[in-house]
Amino acid sequence: MTTLELTVAEQAARAAGTILTRYFREGVTMRSKDISNLVSDADIEAERAIVDVIRRSFPGHEVMGEEEQQGDANAEHLWIVDPLDGTNNFAHKIPHFAVSIAYYRGGQPEAGVVFNPLQDEWITAVRGQGAFRNGERIQVADHRRLDEALVGVGFYYDRDVMMEATLAAISDLKRSQIHGIRRFGTASLDLCMVARGLFGAYFEYTLSPWDFAAGRLIVEEAGGRVTTCRGEIPPLAPTGILATNGALHEAMLTIVQARHPGESP
Ligand code: IPD
Ligand code: CA
Ligand code: CA
Repeated sequence: MTTLELTVAEQAARAAGTILTRYFREGVTMRSKDISNLVSDADIEAERAIVDVIRRSFPGHEVMGEEEQQGDANAEHLWIVDPLDGTNNFAHKIPHFAVSIAYYRGGQPEAGVVFNPLQDEWITAVRGQGAFRNGERIQVADHRRLDEALVGVGFYYDRDVMMEATLAAISDLKRSQIHGIRRFGTASLDLCMVARGLFGAYFEYTLSPWDFAAGRLIVEEAGGRVTTCRGEIPPLAPTGILATNGALHEAMLTIVQARHPGESP
């Protein structure tokens, strides 16, 4: 059944990807939501295209999207959509951004797609059926210790407490002899890098559901683990996210939890 949802998610991602690619090549005016949180016609048009495709197949389902869709997080059938994840990269002509679409049923992730249109890269998962990149099965890394791993990180738009906490956690990780830190600027693709075994772990102290909804399922289906930065099951609300290959989870959690900024779940 959920294979149908995945097919619809892929069609929707394709429609959005076409719009993003056109704007990326031709140029687009970025506007500020707040200090560094940008939005453009590309984000809005892409979200509308995604919603059209979903509603054609599932008119009764709720959609929660970053730009315009305020779907009810408690709905039985819920689509969670980031039409353009990596807006800052997009705005600065860095070809590393994605469309992220997830389908949740009864609060559980059932299907997810992360699509990087410039690379024609498709990372998908259906619950219980594994995770795939361009049709090939993917798996998390087999690292057992932090000193074997490269770690991805993201910074929330906040420049104060959240940033200080992130920098403190990075410094602790460096002392644990990790191979290095990467900040690529697209949370959905960062999660996919954990799923592909490129990152041993990734964390960010605040993400929105549309940033991680699809990536969470992809990591889990690739054999990894995703929790909040306090070790809880991620809620469909703004939250910290820690994703690992599973074996590194406790070691990562000890560090990110110790540096956790107070106000975030
Ligand atoms: C952002 C990106 C970024 C992450 C931010 C997100 P946006 O999403 O995923 O990597 O660090 O927290 O908000 O604004 O480009 O859709
Ligand atoms: Ca995002
Ligand atoms: Ca976005």
